[in-house]
Amino acid sequence: MDMRAVVAPAATYETELLVVYSFEGGMAAAPNAAVRAIDEALNGAIAELVAAGDFAGKMGTMALLYPRGAMPAQRVIVVGLGDSEAFTVDVMRRAAALGLQRARELNAKRVATILPDSEHETAPGLVQALAEGGLLGLYRYVGYKSEVEANHPPEQLDVLRTDEDDLDAVQSGIVAGRAFAEGAALARDLINTPPNICTPTYMAQQAQAMATDVGLSCKILEKQQIGALKMGALLAVAQGSDHPPRFIILEHNADRADELDTLVLVGKGVTFDTGGYSLKSRDGMVGMKADMGGAAAVIGAMRTIAQLNLALHVVGLVPTADNMVSGTAYRPQDVVLASNGKSIEIISTDAEGRLLLADALVYAKRYEPKAVVDIATLTGGIVIGLGHPVAGVFGTDDGLIDELCKVGAATHERLWHMPIFDEYGKSLESDVADTRNSGGEAGRAGSAGVAAYFLRQFVDYPRWAHIDIAGTMRNQGDTPYVPGKNGSATGFGARLLAAWAQQQSATA
Ligand code: BES
Ligand code: ZN
Ligand code: ZN
Repeated sequence: MDMRAVVAPAATYETELLVVYSFEGGMAAAPNAAVRAIDEALNGAIAELVAAGDFAGKMGTMALLYPRGAMPAQRVIVVGLGDSEAFTVDVMRRAAALGLQRARELNAKRVATILPDSEHETAPGLVQALAEGGLLGLYRYVGYKSEVEANHPPEQLDVLRTDEDDLDAVQSGIVAGRAFAEGAALARDLINTPPNICTPTYMAQQAQAMATDVGLSCKILEKQQIGALKMGALLAVAQGSDHPPRFIILEHNADRADELDTLVLVGKGVTFDTGGYSLKSRDGMVGMKADMGGAAAVIGAMRTIAQLNLALHVVGLVPTADNMVSGTAYRPQDVVLASNGKSIEIISTDAEGRLLLADALVYAKRYEPKAVVDIATLTGGIVIGLGHPVAGVFGTDDGLIDELCKVGAATHERLWHMPIFDEYGKSLESDVADTRNSGGEAGRAGSAGVAAYFLRQFVDYPRWAHIDIAGTMRNQGDTPYVPGKNGSATGFGARLLAAWAQQQSATA
């Protein structure tokens, strides 16, 4: 879908479908100049809907009108925004998604829209949310279905403006909204792709293709190079699979690393988690193609960061492997050596993600990063603790964690600050190695915090945060711009990490 800002009055604009937005309480309670003009052109048709009690502007409700010649638009949809006092950019994302999904159902190819008036949000911020929510709402994973529904998404969305004043800023908002949506869509695509296709090699190919597309540098380390780096923890997980591991390094502004601040993003890329010999249950294994959700978020965010052309040096590290069972698979009680020389006694082969992350977190040090953020579908414990609405964030720097929480509130990828208490380390003490990879039975209590404690042993820089997205990775069906069946990918983290980098570049 192409999007552009156009200076033109909505009431006389020729289009297949005009999408407008209205707050709760009707035109009297929350007058919106643009909607009022449309209502006038329609001889009070919207006011009549409100008076009849058929449309109150509640969030998520919509009314479809046929102007029948009263104005050139073939159809008008009014989308409810709810209470004007509770209005945020996220409401805009949701409403835009609903409006454009309806446009697709109606098979409208050329759609126009006008921004709602808001005292709290600027037009460029709103249009970014509109573009982002609209595109994300139209996202669809077709995969390998032989029959696909006939409706096609709108081809053109014109955002109508009354004057030239902020046209450039509005146009930039559209570009930014697209950059965020496309990064998240890439993350969703990678996660939704079945695990027999989405292997570590495939992940590397997709990262490489994306990098070429948007002008990032991309290095792919293969098994031998991973071995040369002594990444024994990553290799231990990978050794049970016929699909070899990859270590993906994406870099934005690699050539300006000396003059710019460096951020490192690290994503867990387990392309399928059977649990290994600590085998998951039949039901517990379903959904584990999404165990590379952290990796997908990093790859998606790197795409957005490149497109926004942020004035930062950003490195995306993706250790990726397949956790399987075989004659060569690693076992409980094996001892493996991570790349910082720390020995790890394997207690559970199902605590594999932290092994990949350990080697990547060690690797991150070479960039002398200002901050490192890792993101991973790491523990069932975080799902028990926080459920599905919010991800847990742990780390060594409260300032960094606060920044991430704030950004998460804005992108609606919410985070909750979790502790790493010293006591969590107790269950990781080993008789034969420097650490264990899990607390075993005793370590089930607070296992998300124990995992964070484990990771911290591989962090050798001051500012590090770890985001556990095991609970937020899969769609719960309650957000209009996260479409698809329950269980399909949300792409959680891609927009968050890119928005955090954007915020860092603004304050650098
Ligand atoms: N990939 C899982 C975590 C997970 C669970 C993600 C549910 C999404 C939904 C991870 O590798 C895992 O198996 N973690 C174990 C750790 C335990 C063995 C210490 C867990 O949380 O049970
Ligand atoms: Zn696991
Ligand atoms: Zn896992």
